[in-house]
Amino acid sequence: MKSKRIEALAEFVLASDTVLDVGCDHGYLSIYLKKNHLCKNVIASDISSNALEMARQNFQKYGLDIATYVSDGFNDIPSFFDTAVIAGMGCSTILNILQNKKCPSKLIISSHNELARLRYNLNKLNFKIEKEKIIYEKGHYYSIMLCHKGYQKLNYQKRHWGLDNNQEYYLYLFNKNKELIKKVPGLKKLKLKYQNYLLKGLIEKK
Ligand SMILES: C[S@@+](CC[C@H](N)C(=O)[O-])C[C@H]1O[C@@H](n2cnc3c(N)ncnc32)[C@H](O)[C@@H]1O
Repeated sequence: MKSKRIEALAEFVLASDTVLDVGCDHGYLSIYLKKNHLCKNVIASDISSNALEMARQNFQKYGLDIATYVSDGFNDIPSFFDTAVIAGMGCSTILNILQNKKCPSKLIISSHNELARLRYNLNKLNFKIEKEKIIYEKGHYYSIMLCHKGYQKLNYQKRHWGLDNNQEYYLYLFNKNKELIKKVPGLKKLKLKYQNYLLKGLIEKK
């Protein structure tokens, strides 16, 4: 069960946090937090009762007492939390979840798509991305963001490629764009060429 991604999510959790693990699925993050005493309390939730049942069985297996709720985002969470981890979902689902009035002021977010749109909308929802970590696991890059309520307007580069200044990630994006440039027409090609001009600048800066 050792996972760099889970460990990176947990790195942004403080001992004083009461964490809601939104979309906990099998409950691996909740287990990691609870077993290692990394926060004050952890609550696990999922929109799917089947997923939550798997989580419950895993909590039992490890002898962990973790409250669980079937809930779409924050909708049906009766207990207190001051931190939400929302990971392994797409940008649109995450943004829908954040519309809720119960949204706490500390978020740890990891989306599997549309990172630029997510960063832009986090700023629009008055969330400041304070830290971001890009990690590579099992053939994929993952972005993990620590956000607090606050004003921020990211520039083009940070909005598109994050705050981590991860050179391997920049190079991966540069090469991906290079391949795409060969295939796409017109405006899209121009946009990708512009992005690669900027990415090259970031890569050479170090
Ligand atoms: C790919 S899993 C990610 C599990 C875990 N968070 C992780 O990062 O490893 C996505 C989970 O999110 C749940 N989910 C999707 N939409 C949700 C929503 N609106 N509210 C709560 N859970 C949701 C799914 O049922 C699924 O179990």
